[in-house]
Amino acid sequence: MVLTSSFQFQDFQHYVDVNTNQTKAFTYTRGANPTLEIFEQKIAKLENGECVKSFALGMAAISAAILGLIEQSQHILVVNTIYGSASKFIRHLQCLGVESTIIHVSETADIFQHVQDNTKIIYFESPSSQKFEMLDLEMISLFSKKKNIYTIMDNTWSTPLFQNPLCFGIDVVIHSCSKYIGGHSDIVGGILVTNFDTMQKIEELGCNLLGGTMSPVNAWLAIRGLRTLPVRLEKQEESIKEIIDFLKNDSRILKIYHPMISTPKDICQKYLRGYTSLFGF
Ligand SMILES: Cc1ncc(COP(=O)(O)O)c(C=O)c1O
Repeated sequence: MVLTSSFQFQDFQHYVDVNTNQTKAFTYTRGANPTLEIFEQKIAKLENGECVKSFALGMAAISAAILGLIEQSQHILVVNTIYGSASKFIRHLQCLGVESTIIHVSETADIFQHVQDNTKIIYFESPSSQKFEMLDLEMISLFSKKKNIYTIMDNTWSTPLFQNPLCFGIDVVIHSCSKYIGGHSDIVGGILVTNFDTMQKIEELGCNLLGGTMSPVNAWLAIRGLRTLPVRLEKQEESIKEIIDFLKNDSRILKIYHPMISTPKDICQKYLRGYTSLFGF
């Protein structure tokens, strides 16, 4: 674990070379740090992403992505099943001249009716918070690319082991590491994964100027979290299966919300790994 805040240059020439971008080196942990980089490289592999940045919290990753990609007078389309504070943050941007519409969606195509000429971002979760509803990622990304709209998706509930939205054309993937990735209830953190061009747009304001960088201690603990993630998920899925079987036999339970039960099978099969084997798909 490298806890260094400011790194030492070898000599004056090294300082000049680094500052004129002729050579790369760690200079200050707000921008980059060896322990953060190890964590970010692991996430890049797991999410199939070109660029990753780690953050102090999931909310820091969310706000960095949005502020990096939106401008005054533009519009953000939000599916209403997202995490509440993300929704609150987007609505708050009204004071900076950013419009937003929060919509209820029964099926993926409903989203497209609400797109405006100035829509720049579609923000959603799949599976979503509370009811774990799933959307058709490829349908959203194909539509958005044609209209020059960025898609930002919070993939916290699936983890990078169960779903990789970038493989289906989504532009930015967010995780709150305070949940499954941390996994041991001793860290908070966030992660943002995207392609090279989109990261170029987000990095300066979203990462460097806002300054929501993850601490190296938390990155080190998040790396440990990744090591235990597969066994934790396996055990959790076994437990979920038992809980669902139990609830199904209770006449007081009207509906069970789980992607494999309350979402069309074809969507689950297309996007989710892991869950499917347990549910006999
Ligand atoms: C799905 C989801 N996304 C994002 C967040 C925000 O993450 P954090 O609490 O790490 O800022 C949360 C927090 O509960 C969440 O549940």
